[in-house]
Amino acid sequence: MNRSRVTRSNLWVLWIVAILVSIVAVAQPAIATQSPTQLYLVGVGPGDPDLITLRAIETIKRADVIFCMESLKDRFAELMQDKQVVHGYWRLFPFYGQDLDDLEGAQRAEAEKLAVRRNEFIAMVRQAIEDGKTVAIVDSGDPLIYGPWAWTMEEFEDLQPVVVPGVSAFNAGNAALRRGITNSDLTKSVILTAADWEGKTDTIDRLSTHQTTMVLFTMRTEFKEFIRKLAINYPADTPLAVVKYAGYADREQVIQATVGTILEKVGQDDLPFEYMIYVGDFLTFRYRKED
Ligand SMILES: C[S@@+](CC[C@H](N)C(=O)[O-])C[C@H]1O[C@@H](n2cnc3c(N)ncnc32)[C@H](O)[C@@H]1O
Repeated sequence: MNRSRVTRSNLWVLWIVAILVSIVAVAQPAIATQSPTQLYLVGVGPGDPDLITLRAIETIKRADVIFCMESLKDRFAELMQDKQVVHGYWRLFPFYGQDLDDLEGAQRAEAEKLAVRRNEFIAMVRQAIEDGKTVAIVDSGDPLIYGPWAWTMEEFEDLQPVVVPGVSAFNAGNAALRRGITNSDLTKSVILTAADWEGKTDTIDRLSTHQTTMVLFTMRTEFKEFIRKLAINYPADTPLAVVKYAGYADREQVIQATVGTILEKVGQDDLPFEYMIYVGDFLTFRYRKED
């Protein structure tokens, strides 16, 4: 009789323990159960620090060595304190994987300079991993959308790196516009693109023949040049918006115009590095049509 009561109460205790264990397991970030990697590429969002994800916070907390731009070190000073933070190795992707013998003159000199910096960075990452450290390469926005560190996934393939996705400037820009980016009477597609270069097959004027929604990541390209290209195939009355500082509550700014009128409202000097161009009639779309 007594024994059966003990057994039943033991069962209750076991039940409660099992429930608690599963609650704790669910609350743990998923990274704990992923591959035994020591190398992470972490997106921390495009603007204010509160756009970082819980997974990114956990990953940075676990890291011993962090590579990032100086501005991110400042933005996440508290989170990165006590870490070894290395900056100054941003934008190492140009010419990566290219045979230097195929290049000449100034281009070759530039490629050689970059290769030296890149090799320094690669050696530092590999040394840290060999020393048993966890390394996080931290980037703004989402690291795989026009991300300058995407090449590291190939370079360190053998280390099975894990990517922690981030909120992209694209997401923050959509939020700033307060419009469904896929809502339109004419199209349900969105093209993300960037400046043209010699040899790019999907040039802005070609893409715009589809008359679909387009979002341009600008990366210091001349604003007038973007508008000139958009105007080739988008009618002048196509809605266009410029979003500056998406995701920064105090600085975010939206300028609404059309392909034909935007240059009257915005000049190159009004634009920071962090701005995007949105084109398409989603900008004026309304569910309730006016009579
Ligand atoms: C190298 S890309 C990086 C994009 C980043 N990986 C992301 O997912 O947001 C830089 C370009 O993204 C856009 N951008 C980045 N942050 C932004 C922000 N807070 N507001 C507006 N545009 C931004 C700009 O067009 C900028 O020139």
